[in-house]
Amino acid sequence: MGKPLIIAIDGPAASGKSTVARRVARALNCVFVNSGEMYRAFTWWTLKNDVDPTDTDAVIRLLNDTSFTCGHEELIGFVEVAGQRLSEEELKNDAVNSSVSAIAAIAEVRARLVAEQRAFANESSLVMEGRDIGTVVFPDTPWKFFIDAAPEIRAARRNAEGIGDSIEARDRADSMRKASPLKVADDAMVIDSSHLDIDEVVDIVVNAIRWENESVAS
Ligand code: C5P
Repeated sequence: MGKPLIIAIDGPAASGKSTVARRVARALNCVFVNSGEMYRAFTWWTLKNDVDPTDTDAVIRLLNDTSFTCGHEELIGFVEVAGQRLSEEELKNDAVNSSVSAIAAIAEVRARLVAEQRAFANESSLVMEGRDIGTVVFPDTPWKFFIDAAPEIRAARRNAEGIGDSIEARDRADSMRKASPLKVADDAMVIDSSHLDIDEVVDIVVNAIRWENESVAS
């Protein structure tokens, strides 16, 4: 068996990175981890506890009182917050969408969740997607991809999902924050998915890895 692979896939909201990452993980038999779900889960818990997401001290107090359990089942990563596994609806509703960037900007929240994210690599090969996976979580991995798409195309993709989500505001907040902002790692391969379909993007990523890593079977 070769060395465990760590594949980092970053990009802005609705760039298609989540679907791509899931499919790449399946193709390469790796665990798939959506790190955004961790920020979303803690945001849901913050709202559930009536803590104001912009009240940093209160959020940190809640964080210090909250347990996270992460793992994977059938190669799909999951997170439990305070012992609860959340549904798609709980993770992706309007309230969470509009508060998650404020919560994710808090350095203490990031430190806690980054530790959980790194722990996944102790066990197995993985594909992790997010905003800072190549820059902060796994800066030493050679496998870094940044998937982008034109803003109007990303907005159209999100609208087609029927979810209220101001991706422009989230991207702005995610790119401007002090702690681990969304940015392209110097050594990442940038893929503009504006005019590509999912299969084409998956092929670019998988072929790039297979090309340079002989231990990955085709
Ligand atoms: O990927 P997704 O859009 O579900 O992420 C939700 C939010 O979580 C992002 O807008 C960002 O604020 C935060 N996030 C982050 N770092 C990551 C993944 C997500 O700050 N690695």
